[in-house]
Amino acid sequence: MRVHDSAPLDNAEPLLDVAALRADTPGCAEVIHFNNAGCGLLPAPVLSAMQDHLNLEARIGGYEASAARADEVRQFYVELGAMLNTGPDNIAFASSATHAYATALSAIPFEPGDVVLTTRHDFISNQIAFLSLRKRFGVRLVHAPDAPEGGVDVAAMADLMREHRPRLVAATHIPTNSGLVQPVAEIGRHCRELDLLYLVDACQSVGQYPLDVDEIGCDLLTATCRKFLRGPRGSGFLYVSDRVLRAGYEPLFIDMYGARWNAPGHYEPVRTAARFEDWEFPYAAVLGCAAAVRYARNVGVEAIARRTPALAARLRDQLAAVPGVRVLDQGARLGALVTFAIEGWQPESFKAAVDERRINSALSFRGLAQFDFGDKDVDWCLRLSPHYYNTEEEVDEVSAAVADLARLGSSAR
Ligand SMILES: Cc1ncc(COP(=O)(O)O)c(C=O)c1O
Repeated sequence: MRVHDSAPLDNAEPLLDVAALRADTPGCAEVIHFNNAGCGLLPAPVLSAMQDHLNLEARIGGYEASAARADEVRQFYVELGAMLNTGPDNIAFASSATHAYATALSAIPFEPGDVVLTTRHDFISNQIAFLSLRKRFGVRLVHAPDAPEGGVDVAAMADLMREHRPRLVAATHIPTNSGLVQPVAEIGRHCRELDLLYLVDACQSVGQYPLDVDEIGCDLLTATCRKFLRGPRGSGFLYVSDRVLRAGYEPLFIDMYGARWNAPGHYEPVRTAARFEDWEFPYAAVLGCAAAVRYARNVGVEAIARRTPALAARLRDQLAAVPGVRVLDQGARLGALVTFAIEGWQPESFKAAVDERRINSALSFRGLAQFDFGDKDVDWCLRLSPHYYNTEEEVDEVSAAVADLARLGSSAR
């Protein structure tokens, strides 16, 4: 465990040993990485798990290497299941969160007139998928309204559940384009009460907050491993509840891994969430994900969930005091994504000026978040997303850099 056992915090949580965690993270020596919402920096054990496997594949052959590492591959399911409070048989590996999401949607036999109930903050690709379902199957898409403080109005959403009896309720825990944390467990309680199918996009929350699929009350949950979980690119997963497995949901294009072809005219899906997986597997990435989940659990997900949003809050407070900067995050609860608009700059040149200071960040545009950016009346913003291995000094350096650039922006006008 990478913690100081001698230095408990005020409420008895052990303090993270940030220096040791940084020493474990080669990228910390190169950049100020405030783009964890894009892709976290790999810790050394994740990197070596993947390198070791690629070396083994090169030495003995790809199929032989995966057979030799079958127990370690299994640990991905065991560790991730333990992290989400579910079993290994409820997890499917996926090549991205979007792939996991599309595979989950493909398992729902939508009919014309079925309602998909979602929020105004759900991820762009999910919104596009719903629109595509509308185009192809004639589903109706309903967006729950927001509460005055920002984020979905859960009571209004529950009313819409009772009114429409949706075929699917979908919520993104943390959107890609703001610091908002949506109350997914509250939404889930209504879904369970009304027995509605509930799909949660936890792409930005896994590795940032503890996730308990029972507490959330979801049937399906998707995420990537590359963001706050600090796994490799090209990886993600789908959680599938026992309820959904027992009800016989299966992806539209189930393959020879997900099903047994037991007669010329017949196939049978496998019993577990493996029915949502493909036969071909990037084993090095899966082993990297197993290492990433293990690493996060060793660091301590509760401790991460305290430090990471606190660093973001420090950054948000400092940026809010900079003339010419408008912090855009709204909601009762805010996480580690910090977004702001700045006067006097165009997006690409501003990002390039931030890059020049070796600060990693990301641009967001209105096309990523039509509702949210429309409400806020902004066309673009910069997103900064620290993680627990970043330091308070880095936060201060980044906000000083933004203040510098804001001065430059205002003098250029
Ligand atoms: C909230 C959210 N959902 C889904 C995705 C899509 O993830 P992936 O790129 O792994 O498909 C992202 C990526 O930024 C995201 O932020």
